Amino acid sequence: MSNRKTRLGVLISGSGSNLQSIIDKCESGYLPAEVAVVISNKADAYGLTRAANHGIPGVVLVRKDYPDEFFYNMAILNALKEHDVELVVMAGYMRLLGPEVLDAYPNQVLNLHPALLPSFPGAHGIKDALDYGVKVTGVTVHFANEIFDEGPIILQEAVSIAEDDTENTLAQKIHTVEHVLYPRAVKFYCEDALAIEGKKVRIKE
Ligand code: GRF
Repeated sequence: MSNRKTRLGVLISGSGSNLQSIIDKCESGYLPAEVAVVISNKADAYGLTRAANHGIPGVVLVRKDYPDEFFYNMAILNALKEHDVELVVMAGYMRLLGPEVLDAYPNQVLNLHPALLPSFPGAHGIKDALDYGVKVTGVTVHFANEIFDEGPIILQEAVSIAEDDTENTLAQKIHTVEHVLYPRAVKFYCEDALAIEGKKVRIKE
């Protein structure tokens, strides 16, 4: 078993509780990985503070500072390359990544979604599931492609919705599952345990 650590580039837009769970699991040794850089599209994202608390470089790249999507995505790509990132982990990054990044990292970009895809894609997966009245929702980890919330699914876990759940209580249940499921998927990736076969992802024994 090698001691090599996969270099992660984590993309965030906000609180970064999933970033925190990944940092913690790198530090505990559960993940054979290290967070090489955190990139945020919001200057005030709390996840940047979490990164700084662990001595991890944080980079702020705001879309409006660039003339178009191409230049913006090239800036993201440059930051990833500058930190020798091998796996891109989107953790609450609320934008679509452009082909400039996706083509440079084929099958090396992961995304987390707070619903059981293909149900309730988009930016409001928790609220949409609650409003629809489904009894079960959940969490999905998938490879990202150029279509929002569409790439091959790695792991999913169901979360039951109780009659008295609010958006807040359901979000807490979802986050608790995310903080376990996302690191597990990253671990499979780092251990080269994922085989993509068309739309399906097989987890190798
Ligand atoms: C998570 O619920 C994730 O599924 C969604 O955005 C949220 C990010 O939360 N894409 P955090 O910033 O990791 O706390």
